Amino acid sequence: MVKPLVAGNWKMNGSRIFAEELVGGVLADLSRSVCADIALCPPSIYLPQVCQILTSGNNSIVRLGAQNVGAQDEGAYTGEISPGMLAEFDCHYVLVGHSERRALFGETNQQIADKFQAVQRHKMVPILCIGESLEQREAGITFEVLAEQLAPLFQLPDEVWKQAVIAYEPVWAIGTGKTATPEQAQEVHSWLRDTLRGQVNEIADNVQLLYGGSVKPDNAKLLFAQQDINGFLVGGASLNLQDFLAICRVAD
Ligand code: 13P
Repeated sequence: MVKPLVAGNWKMNGSRIFAEELVGGVLADLSRSVCADIALCPPSIYLPQVCQILTSGNNSIVRLGAQNVGAQDEGAYTGEISPGMLAEFDCHYVLVGHSERRALFGETNQQIADKFQAVQRHKMVPILCIGESLEQREAGITFEVLAEQLAPLFQLPDEVWKQAVIAYEPVWAIGTGKTATPEQAQEVHSWLRDTLRGQVNEIADNVQLLYGGSVKPDNAKLLFAQQDINGFLVGGASLNLQDFLAICRVAD
């Protein structure tokens, strides 16, 4: 069985006080044993703060994740944060290829593949986000779009999938309150598992496949019951302590 993972992506939300309260609340509640992996991805400026709370809280359950990373190790890249810097602050995961980065900041599949490799060079785990837009779904080209997003990654050695997570986030479900039905999500997740198997054989069976897009406590249960859904990448609901904890419990 694939170990579940629930990751909260705060996006560009929060404050120092928010981070302290939310992370403290998560730790206080999840300090008992949980079977799922749990990750928090605050904005990068709060990574040192959250890192400190997590390490001082005698915590072995909640891991830190970053929302983005520069593809280069160092140099004249104003405004970027290198993978080595994230690793210094105990980041375990890094989101790459979130649809907001693709749509609003023009990230290409190749740039995303470069970031994916940069993250792994520094011994962190990339959470690769992929997903189709509403127009693409309605045009019946969902699987073509996903295959294109995965293509540069499939040029890499098979071993990269031993330390990687994939999050399927249909763009039309992100922040819209319109979740994919469990059947729609499972259809894509089972396609993903099969595609990975075709590419990397049995390594595929251990890759955590997350669903993201308007995940809430009341829809998480049915989604998680699907065979190939191994957890969630949660946006809006991860900003609410009780909602996030409820989703973590579903995956536990
Ligand atoms: P929402 O849960 O707010 O729809 O966001 C999903 C997401 O983009 C997580 O990365």
